Amino acid sequence: MVKIKTVFGCQNCGYQSPKWLGKCPDCGSWNSFVEEAVSPSVDHSGFSLAISAQGIPPQSILSIDTGEEGRQKTEISEFDRVLGGGLVVGSIVLIGGDPGIGKSTLLLQALDRLSRKKIQALYVSGEESLRQTKMRADRIGISSPSLFVLAENSLEKIIEHIQKLKPRVAVIDSIQTVFTSQLQSAPGSIGQVRESAGKLMMLSKSSGLSTFLIGHVTKEGAIAGPRVLEHMVDTVLYFEGDRGHPYRILRAVKNRFGSTNEIGVFEMKDGGLEEVANPSELFLAERPIDVPGSVVISSVEGSRPILVELQALVSPTSYGMPRRTAIGVDPNRVSLLVAVLEKKVGMNLAQQDIFVNVAGGVRIDEPAADLGVICAVASSFLDKPIPSGTMVIGEVGLAGEVRGIHQAELRMKEAFKLGFKRCLLPGSNRSRIALELEGIEMVGVKSVEETLEILF
Ligand code: TYD
Ligand code: MG
Repeated sequence: MVKIKTVFGCQNCGYQSPKWLGKCPDCGSWNSFVEEAVSPSVDHSGFSLAISAQGIPPQSILSIDTGEEGRQKTEISEFDRVLGGGLVVGSIVLIGGDPGIGKSTLLLQALDRLSRKKIQALYVSGEESLRQTKMRADRIGISSPSLFVLAENSLEKIIEHIQKLKPRVAVIDSIQTVFTSQLQSAPGSIGQVRESAGKLMMLSKSSGLSTFLIGHVTKEGAIAGPRVLEHMVDTVLYFEGDRGHPYRILRAVKNRFGSTNEIGVFEMKDGGLEEVANPSELFLAERPIDVPGSVVISSVEGSRPILVELQALVSPTSYGMPRRTAIGVDPNRVSLLVAVLEKKVGMNLAQQDIFVNVAGGVRIDEPAADLGVICAVASSFLDKPIPSGTMVIGEVGLAGEVRGIHQAELRMKEAFKLGFKRCLLPGSNRSRIALELEGIEMVGVKSVEETLEILF
């Protein structure tokens, strides 16, 4: 193996040094040096290389033939939807998630489905032995003979095997365990991860191999090291969920070939991951009826409305500083909404601990959940339940006004499907909904005060 020349470059300012340094002498940042290859035989821009290698002169945009973009469907519909309608031939997909969340399981299942359609697939495990992988495969009932498994960490050997076997889909589990002997740094370091991914990308783009890279997420929430990969790869998916719950959500955060706000919902069972076709039903299944502090809200993820239960518990504090805890919603947003309740409705919450939780381990980032938080907190504080057939949606402004939200009609339809009797929604949305849904009362509200008056 010919050793190539490497340098250590500061990731902050680009300063280069032949040795690793703890502090950059140029910009002063700490721990910013990463080993990089300087050999001209190494090209970091696998993507641009493969694109430019076609050597086509500039063309009028109208004359370009897009043809039918080749997509391979995994037939796991939740997964296909998040990918934007199937796996694009020659694309690189990064899947991040906490350890133990089910990334290996999901991809093994996807490869099984693909290989059953006679698409040759290779699963490369750098973390588990062949026996361990086989045990998992038995557990989830894999039967396809065209699914190949390789336990290998060396990038050079992996590439060699891929070139020999010529699979059409490959999974690298995980990119942090793969290393190239051309760099001295340890496997999992940024330099190694970037170099390995770059090589695999070149291979993919030039041979039409579709590759999944699995990446572990660090404590800070970024895909460890692989954060640096996000701009290189075509698609970045996060697999999330609360380990105490069986539900898992696959979310696209970047997709060159589709929408980024689609989600897929899965349930982890004994025999692997199962798709959840109607998540609302699942999330509402254990909802307590007529209990103060519980309210149903709707969140739209991509093209898909999901109804979830939001819970609040308000109880007198036993400390000088009341606690404000939020799980599944932004805690800052909760503080803001509590302030609105205090100032605009005159609710005295200063001596109350407030806990807000989204049931089922779901996370909601939408402002449309604001009114739900307000109603749940008020319901718990007043000790008055919100009728169980009621859904509440709307963004709340600092003046206590209820503001319009997007996709109101879609949310109403989902509520209707699940048999809700009454929906409180922003007045501006109500006036624009032409849709007539039998048996569901749509109440437009303009302010927080008005909402609470209607409910309690
Ligand atoms: P895994 O796919 O190994 O997670 P990752 O690759 O993201 O680290 O999933 C591990 C967890 O999933 C483990 O806690 C056991 C559970 N599991 C099931 O509940 N059912 C199954 O069929 C399988 C294969 C795993
Ligand atoms: Mg794994």
